[in-house]
Amino acid sequence: MSHLDAQFSIPVGSTVVVSGANGNIASHIVDQLIKTGYIVRGTVRDVKKNKWLIDHFSNIYGPGKIELVEVPDMSVHGSFDESVKGASGFIHTATPVMEDADPNVAIPVVIQGTLSALQSAAKEPKMKRFVLTSSSGACTAPKPGIVFTIDSNTWNEEAIAAAWAPPPYEGFERLLDVYYASKTQGEQEAWKWVRDNKPNFVLNTVLPNANFGPVVDKNHQKYHSTLGWIRALWNGFAGEEGVRNQPPQYYINIVDDAMVHVAALLYKDVSNERLFTFAYPYNWNDILAIFRKLYPSKKFIDDIPDLPRDLSIVTNGRAEDLLKRFAGHGWTNLEETIKSTVADY
Ligand SMILES: NC(=O)c1ccc[n+]([C@@H]2O[C@H](COP(=O)([O-])OP(=O)(O)OC[C@H]3O[C@@H](n4cnc5c(N)ncnc54)[C@H](OP(=O)(O)O)[C@@H]3O)[C@@H](O)[C@H]2O)c1
Repeated sequence: MSHLDAQFSIPVGSTVVVSGANGNIASHIVDQLIKTGYIVRGTVRDVKKNKWLIDHFSNIYGPGKIELVEVPDMSVHGSFDESVKGASGFIHTATPVMEDADPNVAIPVVIQGTLSALQSAAKEPKMKRFVLTSSSGACTAPKPGIVFTIDSNTWNEEAIAAAWAPPPYEGFERLLDVYYASKTQGEQEAWKWVRDNKPNFVLNTVLPNANFGPVVDKNHQKYHSTLGWIRALWNGFAGEEGVRNQPPQYYINIVDDAMVHVAALLYKDVSNERLFTFAYPYNWNDILAIFRKLYPSKKFIDDIPDLPRDLSIVTNGRAEDLLKRFAGHGWTNLEETIKSTVADY
């Protein structure tokens, strides 16, 4: 990586904070950071429960590449003050993912968690770069069959309106609207805070669509959220009928996503940008075709009739260019992504 050092805003060997380091995407970010030569300070809600991160990465890269700090409640002002000491970068991924359909519960924790991470980061004089993991849901819900454009000015105002509509706060649709609204408002507040406070660091945000791929450590992590969708399809949606209703949208290979986060943190010319980690659109029938090709002896469910396609046009070129610069390749295709997801089963 030394040939790239001149392009990096943070010297190799510096400390980078990753919040929610045990999460599926975050642990891949940790992997990429250590591989590139950085020391990771991961924040988790329970250090004892997540000690496996130290064991896992020490086994691969040797001791001393990762340490953990306990941040039990990120929404408390100053909760990241200890974590940022001496650090030069911060990647904030921690978020409750679709845990509560009450906007009064689910949204403030995301906004306050994001603001407390930014406020703590601003107290550390060495801090140069901050990356926030936002979401495709911060710009739009999937709208299969409709042609529209998504760019850095696109915000999911529809989700905000739906999330804050009067109760009842129940049902899957409400849960999704509240989650999307939490990501939209969390990201909006981050940009506003940076405009108002002009910190010494640069903010970039990454907006991933559905992440597919392997977990970092299958003995300690679950195939939940979008990683669980592929397993549900593999099992014919048995016991997980709800996943069948997930609309066609874009996927992103989880390792590509992690690399774009690291590129957004490191490359000097990436500044004040919203980076869209949307690789290509897919639907369940595309993945079933890949399953049948790769595993001809296994029986899968039949194609789902009349499945539409995601026709949105996303300005994802900048994120893919960064991936090419960092990794030497563009978006990993769907077949490779599915292969690496299923390899662990
Ligand atoms: N998966 C996707 O396809 C996708 C797509 C778009 C955006 N994202 C975003 O990517 C980020 C990571 O998602 P993921 O899929 O990797 O999810 P994940 O594996 O569930 O990780 C979530 C992380 O956030 C932490 N967390 C949850 N609630 C918290 C709270 N109240 N306070 C502090 N930490 C909390 C979790 O800690 P515990 O283990 O202690 O619960 C975990 O470390 C999130 O910001 C998510 O919105 C994901």
